[in-house]
Amino acid sequence: MRRESTTIRHMLIEGKKLLITGVLNPDSIAFAVAREAQANGAEILLTSFGRVRSITEKTAKRLPKPVEVLELDVNKPEDIDNVRERLAQRWGRVDGVLHAIAYAPPDALGGNFLATPYESAATAFQTSAYSFKSIVVGLLPLLEGHDGSAVTLDFDNSHVAWPAYDWMGVAKAALESVTRYLARDLGPKRVRVNAVSAGFVRTMAAKGIPGSKIFGELFSTRAPLGWDPTDATPVAQAVLFLFSDWSRGITGEIIHVDGGFHAMGAQMYSPAEQQAGE
Ligand SMILES: NC(=O)c1ccc[n+]([C@@H]2O[C@H](COP(=O)([O-])OP(=O)(O)OC[C@H]3O[C@@H](n4cnc5c(N)ncnc54)[C@H](O)[C@@H]3O)[C@@H](O)[C@H]2O)c1
Repeated sequence: MRRESTTIRHMLIEGKKLLITGVLNPDSIAFAVAREAQANGAEILLTSFGRVRSITEKTAKRLPKPVEVLELDVNKPEDIDNVRERLAQRWGRVDGVLHAIAYAPPDALGGNFLATPYESAATAFQTSAYSFKSIVVGLLPLLEGHDGSAVTLDFDNSHVAWPAYDWMGVAKAALESVTRYLARDLGPKRVRVNAVSAGFVRTMAAKGIPGSKIFGELFSTRAPLGWDPTDATPVAQAVLFLFSDWSRGITGEIIHVDGGFHAMGAQMYSPAEQQAGE
């Protein structure tokens, strides 16, 4: 029984060629995706850029197998062109690309919403939402025609406001919309485009949001399945499902991997706590 489920698990993404952006350190959600992808038989390449590239290279050494790190500042079209050429030489096709990239300047976060200058809001939009279009369209010649899959990482933002998240929240709402429009235009080319809306994970990007500690507590107390903000594995495994052929009927979707947090209206109280509150 155990043997059979292992075989199925391996078949999900065995042999898939995946480009994984956004690995910074071992806390990165993309690191969990890279680790799980290798553990389940996929071939991966990572990207990083500029000053943080050496950190990514150091982090990559902690993966089960050695992996190359390509230069990609997602806001530079020439970097995207170079990555496409490198992938064309190396693999000739790409089965999946993970967009795990977000950035907002400090004055676009932390309760400064009303005073944020347009330039900072625009930077958040360009790097965190528009960039999904840039990378998917840039890699399209390698993704199209063979059930390629593009996945981005969302934080549930199209219909609610959060403390401190500010213009990153607006950018994530845009990212959800970008996901749907890409799905519309790329479906006929047999490319799927989906988002995984992750529960709060303590990463470098998360720590950059002032007061982010309360997010961890919020998810732990409200998610009916519980939620561990130090473990991105459940998010990574959902991403791999979206790279697998088992999700071939899914596009334009936002899958919540947050322990059920998004579906609840209030904190989870035990029956005893509920009675005490009556
Ligand atoms: N941490 C969370 O709670 C959480 C929840 C939901 C979604 N997300 C999303 O997951 C994604 C990954 O973030 P993370 O939390 O793992 O943090 P992280 O800090 O580990 O990753 C963010 C990555 O974005 C990269 N990046 C920033 N600007 C870039 C640019 N111009 N070009 C290329 N790469 C660039 C950074 O190098 C870094 O690797 C982000 O989109 C984030 O919004 C995070």
